[in-house]
Amino acid sequence: MERFRVEGGHRLSGAVRVHCAKNAVLPILAGAILADDPTTVLDCPDIADVSNMVRILQTLGCEVSAQGAALRVDPSSIHSDTMPEDLSKRLRSSVFMMGALLGRLRRAVVPYPGGCEIGQRPIDLHLSGLTALGVDIREEGGLVVCDGGRMRGGEVHLDYPSVGATENVMMAAARIPGRTVIHNAAREPEIADLQRFLNACGARIAGAGSATIEIEGVRRMRGATYRPMPDRIEAGTLLAAAAATGGEVELTDAPVEELGAVMAKLREMGCRVEAGAGRVALAAPPRLDSPGQLITLPYPGFPTDMQAQMLALTCCARGTSIITETVFENRFTHVGDLRRMGANIVVKDRTAIVRGVRSLHGARVCARDLRGGAALLIAGLAAHGETVVEGAELIDRGYERLEWMLGGLGARIRRERQTDE
Ligand code: EPZ
Repeated sequence: MERFRVEGGHRLSGAVRVHCAKNAVLPILAGAILADDPTTVLDCPDIADVSNMVRILQTLGCEVSAQGAALRVDPSSIHSDTMPEDLSKRLRSSVFMMGALLGRLRRAVVPYPGGCEIGQRPIDLHLSGLTALGVDIREEGGLVVCDGGRMRGGEVHLDYPSVGATENVMMAAARIPGRTVIHNAAREPEIADLQRFLNACGARIAGAGSATIEIEGVRRMRGATYRPMPDRIEAGTLLAAAAATGGEVELTDAPVEELGAVMAKLREMGCRVEAGAGRVALAAPPRLDSPGQLITLPYPGFPTDMQAQMLALTCCARGTSIITETVFENRFTHVGDLRRMGANIVVKDRTAIVRGVRSLHGARVCARDLRGGAALLIAGLAAHGETVVEGAELIDRGYERLEWMLGGLGARIRRERQTDE
């Protein structure tokens, strides 16, 4: 077990390059099995979720090799349609292997994914979407057994624009006969990136990024070499870290239009934010203003994956902030630890009321989920004194050496082994 030790009060400044997006790389790695020959995914972030996805692909029989930051996936020797239980539980987002396995093998056996810290994470929308394509689904002893022998294109109506359900249906439909239309599809940019990748492999998909996605099934797909989009949540996290310290940073290889809601909120809080081709520059005032309201919504609304980081920013902002989390039912796991650092936060149902205080003080805190852990690091950067954030492995799930990126901008932060004391 590891933890981060942060010395607060140091202003961040400088430039940092944004990695490729975790939430684009994961479905693309799954989608690679739809091709009959090898795919190379360039610039994969070195994070735990990607390593787990690689192990899942290898367990299914794919050959996966690393060439620097590139991952080469050769699915030609895939021999199993059954997801490994231990790895599937460790990587929730392995659930979208279901669609890829059905698209390739017409069968998938997936352990019922458990919930996690931020919510129950049900898969009813995935299953109803696949059923609309003719998949026969039954649950046996904690396993979801999907028989896609009769799959045909069809009309899929998602009750909620679920990112994973949209991706599962896209991948299941890519190589089956007929036309599939997904209504009320999720519009997150990572879905458009998956469409670009699958089409580079010979699929015929259109509409990703809008609420209606059309897929014309094709008989064969070939491998591709593909660089996933930059990580808008990593970018937002780095901007929030700079803003927490009154800093001035520039992000390179950054997603720009996909960061619109986050940049707008940071401007409302008093930051100067300029964006150009692949570049975002932020300069923050010594003390931020409250943004007033912040409500998380499906894209293009404010991203739920940035809620914790922004909530940490409001703790020392001038004024009171009302933060409402509409996407997940339990995504305030970071509030208790922020209170221990001196924040004034009251949570009622899905709303947190944050009254800005002059400053936070360092404390020993613990990450309970990926983005909540990032939020605690951000609070530690701004706090007086030293903060120890335990649970570094949760943060490593979604950020490649976050302490190096922050340290390169002037943060005093180091990783250490977690002793028992
Ligand atoms: C993806 O999760 C992301 N993960 C999440 O990022 C992100 O928070 C989420 O989309 C929303 O943007 C990956 O892409 C790997 P959803 P996903 O299905 O697909 C409910 C991070 O920190 N729902 O859009 O699981 C669900 O419970 C992670 O990088 C159902 O009710 O999100 C949630 O309340 C966290 N039934 C809401 O919809 C279903 O069948 C949104 O979930 C599916 C989802």
